[in-house]
Amino acid sequence: MLPTAGNELSSVNSKECKENIIKFEMEYNVSLKIIGMGKGIPERCVTNDDLAGFLDTDDEWIVTRTGIKTRYVCTYETLTDLSVTAAKQALDKANLAASDISLIICATLGGDYRTPSHACTVAEQLGTTCPAFDINAACTGFVYALDIASAYLEAGKAKNILIICAEMMSSQMDWNDRNTCILFGDGAAACVVTAGNALKYTSLSAIADTTILNLPVDTGNNPFIAEKRGKAYLQMQGQEVFKFAVGIVGKDVKHALETTGLSPEQIDYFILHQANKRIIDSIRVKLKQPEEKFPVNIDKYGNISSVSVPLLLSEMLDEGKINPSDTLFISAFGAGLTAGSCILVWE
Ligand code: COA
Repeated sequence: MLPTAGNELSSVNSKECKENIIKFEMEYNVSLKIIGMGKGIPERCVTNDDLAGFLDTDDEWIVTRTGIKTRYVCTYETLTDLSVTAAKQALDKANLAASDISLIICATLGGDYRTPSHACTVAEQLGTTCPAFDINAACTGFVYALDIASAYLEAGKAKNILIICAEMMSSQMDWNDRNTCILFGDGAAACVVTAGNALKYTSLSAIADTTILNLPVDTGNNPFIAEKRGKAYLQMQGQEVFKFAVGIVGKDVKHALETTGLSPEQIDYFILHQANKRIIDSIRVKLKQPEEKFPVNIDKYGNISSVSVPLLLSEMLDEGKINPSDTLFISAFGAGLTAGSCILVWE
């Protein structure tokens, strides 16, 4: 049994982060375990050479600077299609029917509709009538969703919870902007969680900074606004995000290890958000751990925001790479700026 963090809600000042970081760590009386996972990936694979066909870029630049070789992009699929595929796989693996689900949490930057929520859109296709809602914690969505799910389970308010992470990044970015559009892809991943003891530690944070990574909304055709904002795309100051990512993930690993009393050697896998292979490598080098403990899927899928981590976990399970008692450190970061990490001892 691992030592767990004490209940704590604290504000921490940091030199690198100009605003307060609100961290929440929890000691779980009833925790959760993942009992089934699934994925939904669009058919169309887009290579770096495909991008070089209409952008001033090339395969060598993209691979060297990011580690990305391909990404998958929706052409005829809706985000609901991908999500339902992922959810059905997760339910099958959990040996459950949709009617066994008592709550659906969907992490997304936005589904096929602004309203209803993506969770409700998927629920309609699954035929469920349980509560369903979306959360937006950007790329950190999966860790936030796990934390919310564990609170529902601990309160006895749900039995089996379906978490879906789903992103159609291709509709959110400017395909003329080589600084951003080369980085992202589309997809969905899902998991079913129930009461268990796998989740040992969670730490979430949010720094109020909307400047270095954001996606503005347009003003529509409101006649009372003089300066209308038309369709806007994802905006990013790449190097600032890079620095934030390396800093926050480094701090989150350190804090998780100190709090749980684990050493890096006792972690079997560091499953980190797949934003840039260089970010992952920099954390690995700092921790002096072997490459095989840092699985990647960014080469194949690019960055799929909240989907990257659960997709990686799902594929590792399918490949038989995760065994009972394996200790996993999971960490993600994204717009907000949000960050979150957790430790799972696989059941
Ligand atoms: N192909 C070719 N050249 C490109 C390019 C592309 N796709 N994108 C940018 N460049 C050029 C730039 O214009 C710049 O040219 P210049 O020196 O003539 O001005 C040069 O490459 C270097 O650009 P820079 O932005 O300094 O590159 P970088 O090494 O910082 O890499 C990112 C850019 C975006 C890959 C990197 O900053 C990054 O990954 N940041 C984190 C992003 C992230 O994690 N986002 C998601 C958060 S959830």
